[in-house]
Amino acid sequence: MLINKNDLPLVAEDFMNDVHFEDVEIINNLYEKLLTYINDSTKENKNIFIDNYQEWYDHTVAHFKGEEEKMLELNFPPYMMHKSEHERCLEQMRLILEHFIKNEDSQILRNYFESDLVNWLINHIHTMDTVTAMFFKTGQSPCHAH
Ligand SMILES: [Fe+2]
Ligand SMILES: [Fe+2]
Repeated sequence: MLINKNDLPLVAEDFMNDVHFEDVEIINNLYEKLLTYINDSTKENKNIFIDNYQEWYDHTVAHFKGEEEKMLELNFPPYMMHKSEHERCLEQMRLILEHFIKNEDSQILRNYFESDLVNWLINHIHTMDTVTAMFFKTGQSPCHAH
């Protein structure tokens, strides 16, 4: 298991927490598929990993879209800031997969999962998602805190 669900910061909106828990389940499963491929680098294991990665990407697009639509609906002031973090994350996910497909370099992938991704996810939920969920719940703009 790469990420323990109990380590995930909880935000004020359950619809977001639910998606984050789904995300962790998908990531943990994907990480297992990666380890399987590293132990036994067959074409079949590679394809299983890539298919699962693509499903994770689609889930992440929907995850981010769900937050962005509600931010627009409620006129969340730092919408662009939050959205651009999402876009950078998706871009990195695409680049990492493309690199793996071309070079079959599983070490970069492994490093990505074990450090960059885990750090990004925890940090993003702890900052952007936390502030955004509080705004959804209370209508309080985070700008008031400064
Ligand atoms: Fe989120
Ligand atoms: Fe987010």
